Amino acid sequence: MIKLGVLGSGTGSNFAAIAESIKSKKINSVEISIVISDVENAKILDRAAALDIPNKYIPADDFKTKLDGKQEQDYINALKSADVDYIILAGFMRMIKNGLLNAFPQKIVNIHPALLPAFPGLHSWKQALDYGAKFAGCTVHFVDAGMDSGPIIAQAAVPIEDNDTAETLHAKIQIQEHIIFPEVIQLLADGKVKIEGRKVKTENCESNI
Ligand code: GAR
Repeated sequence: MIKLGVLGSGTGSNFAAIAESIKSKKINSVEISIVISDVENAKILDRAAALDIPNKYIPADDFKTKLDGKQEQDYINALKSADVDYIILAGFMRMIKNGLLNAFPQKIVNIHPALLPAFPGLHSWKQALDYGAKFAGCTVHFVDAGMDSGPIIAQAAVPIEDNDTAETLHAKIQIQEHIIFPEVIQLLADGKVKIEGRKVKTENCESNI
């Protein structure tokens, strides 16, 4: 059984997909111990409350775009108290710094709405659309000190059609996010994720994390 701490700043559709996969036993040996948001009225907290999953607003606004300083320590304390094995970033819109990374080495996983290493940063689906790319997608990856730069665990591609808008494209990407994120979490629970430098193996291997 692995225990997850889910961090999110917004709607929480990825959190909901993971929770639903657990409830319907599509994935097993996984439980969500705590959901934490840096946004007081974030929908992700309401969704967690509706599912009776412990949830907490912990302010992080000492810094604008990162989680750092005393507030980073507040997050570490809450995640350690909840005894989590993995931290799942599900739309958490802050850079993760060394304090949290060192407290949970190789245990922090993020979903990003682009085929990394293309289009890191914000509004990545819009970046792909504006660039004229023919495919967009999503990436589940380990978090390191860079921006969306850690080793890639899984990706799914989505074709960009001529009539796509930012909204239609993000919606199509999110359908894929809700599939691959729970799949990766199952691989973690099964001990089937092995990190070798930049490469992550998930087939016929035993975990080294
Ligand atoms: C998701 O599309 C996720 O990939 C993205 O935020 C959205 C959160 O949606 N994350 C990032 O852009 C991180 N850089 P959700 O709150 O409905 O899960």
